[in-house]
Amino acid sequence: MEIVILPSAAEVGVLAARKIARVVRDKPDAVLGLATGSSPLAIYAALAEQTRDGSLDVSRVSAFALDEYVGIPAEHPESYAAVIAREVTGPLHLDPAGVQVPDGRAVDLEAAGERYEEAIRAAGGVDLQILGIGANGHVGFNEPTSSFASRTRIKTLTERTRSDNARFFDSADDVPTHCLTQGLGTIMDARELLLVAQGPAKAAAVAAAVEGPVTSMCPASILQHHRRATIMVDEDAAARLT
Ligand code: F6R
Repeated sequence: MEIVILPSAAEVGVLAARKIARVVRDKPDAVLGLATGSSPLAIYAALAEQTRDGSLDVSRVSAFALDEYVGIPAEHPESYAAVIAREVTGPLHLDPAGVQVPDGRAVDLEAAGERYEEAIRAAGGVDLQILGIGANGHVGFNEPTSSFASRTRIKTLTERTRSDNARFFDSADDVPTHCLTQGLGTIMDARELLLVAQGPAKAAAVAAAVEGPVTSMCPASILQHHRRATIMVDEDAAARLT
């Protein structure tokens, strides 16, 4: 596990984008794993800037999102399909056909999870997975006690996660209760992991993930067992590392 501590949240975005750009330059048809939420937004903005000025070509890149809410329509501005279209596919001019999000509206969610796993396999697996971390240590929406062997499946969001994500919705009650998320086993299959975290609210989760025991009570701690995992954090998020 490589830990990179940077002076500011903005620098986390810039350095993480530089790392991703290197992966794409080495492998122009790279498969990226995309996180949503606030943490990766600066990365996507920096990558979009590089595609605009011509220093990065992502025309052959494809991507898979980590998760999707269950119970809100795709047109809802906070569905992850809409967020990915708005923050990633559009600004980076990725071919929408090559960017997949779990189908949280499927009638048979178990089958949708299996189809998603199959699509990732058919694409040759994820080269680099971008991750955020929940204040409770979740990655994707793998909440505490998630199995390290889990694959894409339906999960119940904890009250902590629902209240943390209430800022994206009109009210806390509007936050969906369920999601379809890649499993920890799915995430660990990616060839490289890049977790970013900014701000003091993430400090305890980052310390538990990096220095604590590997335990399903802190799902991100499984990253300690990945061969190529980088954690990029600002000083606030690093504050509880020893
Ligand atoms: C989002 C996801 C979540 C977030 C995490 C942090 O696709 O999988 O694990 O990365 O909840 O969210 P933010 O970045 O909004 O603090």
